[in-house]
Amino acid sequence: MRDPYFPKAGNGGYDVTHYALALAYDPGTHHLTGTARITARATRDLSAFDLDFEGMDVRSLGVDGKDARWNRSGQELTVRPREDLRKGRTFRTTVRYSGTPVTITDPDGSREGWLRTADGALALGEPTGSMAWFPGDDHPSDKASYDIAVTVPKGLQAVSNGELAAGPTTRGNRTTYTWHTAEPMATYLATVAIGHYDISRTTTRSGLPVYVAVDPQQAAASRKVLAKLPEIIAWEEAAFGPYPFSSTGAIVDRPEDAGYALETQNRPVFPGAPETGTLVHELAHQWYGDSVTPKSWRDMWLNEGFATYAEWLWDEDHGGDTAQQSFDANYRRKSAWTFPPADPPGAAHISDSPVYERGAMVLHKIRLTVGDAAFRAILTGWAATHRHGSANTADFTAYVEKKAPGKDFDEIWKDWLYGKGRPAHE
Ligand code: TRP
Ligand code: ZN
Repeated sequence: MRDPYFPKAGNGGYDVTHYALALAYDPGTHHLTGTARITARATRDLSAFDLDFEGMDVRSLGVDGKDARWNRSGQELTVRPREDLRKGRTFRTTVRYSGTPVTITDPDGSREGWLRTADGALALGEPTGSMAWFPGDDHPSDKASYDIAVTVPKGLQAVSNGELAAGPTTRGNRTTYTWHTAEPMATYLATVAIGHYDISRTTTRSGLPVYVAVDPQQAAASRKVLAKLPEIIAWEEAAFGPYPFSSTGAIVDRPEDAGYALETQNRPVFPGAPETGTLVHELAHQWYGDSVTPKSWRDMWLNEGFATYAEWLWDEDHGGDTAQQSFDANYRRKSAWTFPPADPPGAAHISDSPVYERGAMVLHKIRLTVGDAAFRAILTGWAATHRHGSANTADFTAYVEKKAPGKDFDEIWKDWLYGKGRPAHE
């Protein structure tokens, strides 16, 4: 499928089921060595296929144990296996690579890919940053399980998604951290954080493992807000349904390490101690974005509108503004109306205010139409129906209509979701 905003991202002809990544990084030299073993299933007969990979040097490439021909053009790494791959066949591609991983500047000017930090590195992938540190099908529509092993100089730590499978194991002057993600994950949600961290490993009252890594410089400022994480997860489970993954947590780096927070799976990343609202937002993405993932970057509002509405609901339930007050305050802001949430005017705008606040306003209009109880059922039902899957805006509008027979949503879709300008609102 061709993404309407990032036409080069993602590839046709196969579905990745598993990434096994073995990485070694030295922050002193900025040198990364990697082996990616990519298990995929051919969705049609293939004589060649593409992987997304930017920068780095490919050392060798094989398919099912046999050397394959390959060439590179921009971010496309084209692979020609010795033998054609039949539709339905599962095959394994092994790419060995090394070099200095690149930082990618997004169309909106933000930085992603491989970021150097004061004491290590931080890999951030939204929307197309994962291709800077591993080859793959870098599009949200192709989710897979992961094993990520990261070797760093002894004394440093390496944090990633999922759960710590083994170790850490130290051999000589190097330590390896091995992380396992069983639930499907989109490439843009994969992360690696390398550096010095204060680590806390606890469990929530319901038994969910919590792994929190905080840059020591941010520890004091983060303590109070991070102590709320179990309570936020419990509140979100009550609002959105069962937590979709086998562990939770957070990674807090320094403010200058990343310009933004990101909902990396299991363990969102924060540039310095987050505000409570930001923690609520990134954890809400675990349901809306990470478990229910957009089919394309056009469907971004299904991530950001929901995560923003989660903040409004949190405030409402905790003695702050009601969602209606948040709606009204945003309705008055000009920046919310520059374009419709379901149709951003280009890749540079997928993280602009209309995707967030106006997306949340669409949800509030649905709530006003169906009432609180039915709206709650839509929030949990949407997360349950597409759990660990992918969905687009049309899936969402069809779902809402099915859940509220007899209600008329035409105006909400036409004016609030797809329409230009500020609709009237009494
Ligand atoms: N998804 C992040 C959040 O709101 C924000 C973000 C970071 C983002 N990088 C992006 C949004 C790139 C769109 C594109 O939690
Ligand atoms: Zn968000």
